[in-house]
Amino acid sequence: MEIQGRVIVVTGAARGIGAAMCRSAVKAGAELVVVSDRNVDEAIQLAAELGPSAVAVGCDVGREEDVQHLVRETQRLSGRIDIFCSNAGITFKGGLESTNAEWQRMWDVNVMSRLYAARAVVPGMLARGEGYLVQTASAAGLLTEIGSASYSVTKHADVALAEWLSTCYGRSGIRVSCVCPLGVETDMLDDSDPIHRYLHLHSITADQAAAAIFEGIAKEEFLILPHPEVLEFYRMKGADYDRWIRGMQRLRQKLTKQEQRRAA
Ligand SMILES: NC(=O)c1ccc[n+]([C@@H]2O[C@H](COP(=O)([O-])OP(=O)(O)OC[C@H]3O[C@@H](n4cnc5c(N)ncnc54)[C@H](O)[C@@H]3O)[C@@H](O)[C@H]2O)c1
Repeated sequence: MEIQGRVIVVTGAARGIGAAMCRSAVKAGAELVVVSDRNVDEAIQLAAELGPSAVAVGCDVGREEDVQHLVRETQRLSGRIDIFCSNAGITFKGGLESTNAEWQRMWDVNVMSRLYAARAVVPGMLARGEGYLVQTASAAGLLTEIGSASYSVTKHADVALAEWLSTCYGRSGIRVSCVCPLGVETDMLDDSDPIHRYLHLHSITADQAAAAIFEGIAKEEFLILPHPEVLEFYRMKGADYDRWIRGMQRLRQKLTKQEQRRAA
């Protein structure tokens, strides 16, 4: 799908990958770019910077009534939504010790948000015979993020939902893309975290990620991989799951030892 003349909503758009997607969409000639974020002030600032084809709408994607309001507001402004990008996402470091409240917030923001968006926009898209859902998942949704159990689990669920949506609505004109990057240089990469420092070794900029996302949307690819090596890792995992897990165990051990040396 071409971006020119389209109405596009991006969540988590005040910063990082979402902000870069909004900049790209305006440059590509979108009719309307809805810059949506729970940080309303920054969303308003970015929309003002982007000019008359951008507008800011506040939304905490973990709350269904906020997502419904975002969709209603966009429809009021433009009569339709062509592309809805569920991009907002968060992470909490940690494994078994992560609290239930942290897991719940991860579930709401990284997974339920995608369901709330699809529920709100799919009926209108089906009625028009076309529409596009883009979900920014993560390579952690295909592989695993050693430093965060809840991120790994919720991003796998994000990929699963995208796959289900594409399977069920693909023949009715609805395109779905699932974006699975490795490290992207945004606030999410925390240099105090050994895994994130490791990801930084091959990280790309948010602008590079946005360019890969729009290239994937133009080709209507389901799996958009801004880091092509992820496909190679995913194939290795599929070819020999046990071997791949042994490799991940070794990597974790190596990073843990490095961290212990740093701390000593
Ligand atoms: N940065 C990476 O290395 C990386 C890698 C793979 C996937 N991702 C995914 O890309 C997406 C964007 O991440 P980013 O790196 O740009 O992060 P970021 O932290 O730079 O930006 C995230 C934006 O989302 C907003 N946000 C957070 N919670 C929200 C909520 N509940 N409702 C609405 N907005 C909310 C924040 O205010 C912020 O503007 C996320 O889904 C993330 O999981 C990031």
